[in-house]
Amino acid sequence: MELFDSHAHYNDEKFEEDREEILKEIYKSGVTKLVNAGYSLESSKSAIQIANSHDFIYSTVGISPNDIADYKKEDLKEIENLAKSPKVVAIGEIGLDYYWNKENKDLQKEVFISQIEIANKLNLPIVIHTREAVYDTLEILKNNNCNKKGIFHCCPFNVDLVREGLKLGFYISFAGPTTFKNSKNAPEIIKMVPLDKMLIETDSPYLSPEPFRGKRNDSRNVKYIAEKIANIKNLLTEEIAEITYQNTLKIFKI
Ligand code: NI
Repeated sequence: MELFDSHAHYNDEKFEEDREEILKEIYKSGVTKLVNAGYSLESSKSAIQIANSHDFIYSTVGISPNDIADYKKEDLKEIENLAKSPKVVAIGEIGLDYYWNKENKDLQKEVFISQIEIANKLNLPIVIHTREAVYDTLEILKNNNCNKKGIFHCCPFNVDLVREGLKLGFYISFAGPTTFKNSKNAPEIIKMVPLDKMLIETDSPYLSPEPFRGKRNDSRNVKYIAEKIANIKNLLTEEIAEITYQNTLKIFKI
């Protein structure tokens, strides 16, 4: 069984000590592709570096709503230039986060929209981060056409978001919370998402799935997300692994 982790952060400092060893183990375990996501200028640069030194790794570049405290307009020009690097497959993670940052909603919206424009200019999909900002996120997506669509990363278990996101042509990526016992509507949401719109991810080093909740996450755990979805869709874990692998290749044009 081969798996594709559609979203992880090996550019995070939590992997500083043992990054290369872990990446080797991940590949050996059957995770034969992964996308390393940027979230700031610096992390986007290191995401590209990591992708350039490993055949099986791709990257995204972008500035997340939680990384705009010292944002400057020139940063976007730099993101655009970085996005032209051959292993960059999307602009992300970008979006809105009113859980961590309520004070700068207008700036969040501005940076989000500007990066949608970059994605459109370069014919790339986007990777969306949205937290406690469902309706503003949907409004922006309805008013700003994303030519190559994209992905809702770490699917928030919100029925409106998933229904409207699917209508807009986006993919839904499931992460560790899919396996949490307190994610009560996870089965309902998983049933809503057609197989051809589904991706899986770890968001490593965050959000370890059960049975490793609370520990540092890595891409080897993506199989637990596949297993949970397989149980709900009445399929084999191998089938979910294969379907999500193909979907991820398709949206990122790999
Ligand atoms: Ni992330």
